[in-house]
Amino acid sequence: MITANELRQKYLKFFESKGHAIIPSAPLVPENDSTVLFTTAGMHPLVPYLMGEKHPMGKRLADVQKCVRTGDIDEVGDPTHHTFFEMLGNWSLGDYFKEESITMSWEFLTSKEWLGLDKNRIAVSVFAGDKDAPFDEGSFEIWKNIGMSESRIAKLPKKNNWWGPAGETGPCGADTEIFYWVGDAEKVPDSFNDDNDLWVEIWNNVFMEYNKKKDGAYEKIAQQNVDTGMGLERILAAVNGFSDNYKTELFWPIIQKIEELTKFKYGEKSDSEHIKDDGQCWVDTRKSMRIVADHIKAAVFMITDGVEPSNTERGYVLRRLIRRAVRQGYKLGIKNNFTAEIAKIVQDLCKETYPEVLNENVLVELQKEENNFRKTLERGLVKIDKYLSNPEGNFFYEKKGDEMGKRQLYFNTDATELIFDLYQTEGFPLEMTLEELKRTGVSFDENKLKERFNELLKKHQDLSRTASAGMFKGGLADTKEETTQLHTVAHLMLAGLRKTLGEHVHQKGSNINGERVRFDFSHPEKMTDEQKQAVEKYVNEAIEAKVDVALEEMSLDEAREKGAEGAFENKYGDVVKVFTIEGFSREICGGPHVKNTGDIKGKFKIKKEESSSAGVRRIKAVLE
Ligand code: SER
Repeated sequence: MITANELRQKYLKFFESKGHAIIPSAPLVPENDSTVLFTTAGMHPLVPYLMGEKHPMGKRLADVQKCVRTGDIDEVGDPTHHTFFEMLGNWSLGDYFKEESITMSWEFLTSKEWLGLDKNRIAVSVFAGDKDAPFDEGSFEIWKNIGMSESRIAKLPKKNNWWGPAGETGPCGADTEIFYWVGDAEKVPDSFNDDNDLWVEIWNNVFMEYNKKKDGAYEKIAQQNVDTGMGLERILAAVNGFSDNYKTELFWPIIQKIEELTKFKYGEKSDSEHIKDDGQCWVDTRKSMRIVADHIKAAVFMITDGVEPSNTERGYVLRRLIRRAVRQGYKLGIKNNFTAEIAKIVQDLCKETYPEVLNENVLVELQKEENNFRKTLERGLVKIDKYLSNPEGNFFYEKKGDEMGKRQLYFNTDATELIFDLYQTEGFPLEMTLEELKRTGVSFDENKLKERFNELLKKHQDLSRTASAGMFKGGLADTKEETTQLHTVAHLMLAGLRKTLGEHVHQKGSNINGERVRFDFSHPEKMTDEQKQAVEKYVNEAIEAKVDVALEEMSLDEAREKGAEGAFENKYGDVVKVFTIEGFSREICGGPHVKNTGDIKGKFKIKKEESSSAGVRRIKAVLE
């Protein structure tokens, strides 16, 4: 049995031995990019470098990156999909390309010195080619030369074998994917078929040589990059002979805790058999437990990186994850708050690798959200009861009794609006309404009801999509200029804050989009109006002075000696970028920044200053 940590270390050691610099994981919430909600892949924080900017650690990089992907949320519950996962990644920024990349992956997976996986259980796919880019003959030939039989090399279209861009525009390219047979070792099929779930994708090597533009066209970029990603959860399962990621140490203690809190055992019956709980519905305990484990783990990491449950953007994603978990817990018969109990196990499991998960907000936020949601559920149930007990309402109609004279209630499908309203205003899940109806003996046409409900949902989503379209439109490039200006402003503001309030002020977090900068910093009390004005003055003077923003690369020690500010210094590698605005600011940072403070358009204004958490204040500021 190899442990998760041994596997992380092995991976990094292997790529280090191949000349890669090891970089730390970026946070889950992208710091200076408003076009996506979460870091969805290891390549994401590296986009500027894939597009040609020089990375201070060189052209070969490797890391273990925390990722959140909600696109696959409906798949969660099966053995191999997650909303939060760790991605082992290696990159060539215009250095090696297909041959070296594929050869290294093959060596790491199959060499006895590294993972020693059975070569016979491996299959691959390559890009078949289309109007945008040709068949990836290069990868096909490399795999053949390695000894892969042709029947194990699938040629698949863009839908399968193309990766990126992460947003609407940006770097992307054909990929070759590596699959591992998790079924019976004696029954490995001769040929590869991507419809068979027992072939699990473990590694994806993307050959990023295109940029997708706003008009949808693909143009070749200046350098040929490699971006690979291997899900730690899947490869750990494969190496240890599990076909279920939840059986690995990354999840098993969480599942055991859930077993303890419910009356069920994980997989107590065979995969296909469902266990009846309260006589109302069939619960697939294995699926429900997986969802609880996955979602709570994701929630722990999201809260750790500064997300709070809310009704918009990231907060909404977090809220949904917690509520879905509570919902599954409810199905499993857990009546009391439990998410914090499970979160403690997650913290215990992850604290060695990610000490930040011990963040005190984690348990507090989960408790709060779970309490809220339970109240929602109660309110929803009361409303349903009210509908049901009001014969004047149109929620149901009564049919003449059957031959035994029994009362029969039928749900009036026209009243789906009421159910939708419960969902929309109270957050009460449709599934639970249906269960309530069944429990109280109301008959209804489930398909028809769901159909109507979905119509209403679609109508509503179209409305809200129009409202939030501004947020997702465009790619990285669109808001880039404004974001870059505000990024430099953030440096000036931090320097101004330190000058005005004192040296105890350090950055605690930041989030920038094209319109505003949100900035968290350590300071024990509310700022006075005079202090805010002093900071504004400092920043505006720097803008008016038109000072060059100078970039130097140096060792972390050198940067410290030069008095560079950098609350996040441990996030970068040993060689760091230091941005100096002479006379105003010197800070360690990954960039990007304007070339001269004169490029900052507008007047700096603090719009809001408020408490963020204990000892941390938050400023929202803009350029007017
Ligand atoms: N970007 C690719 C992926 O996420 C490879 O790292 O699969």
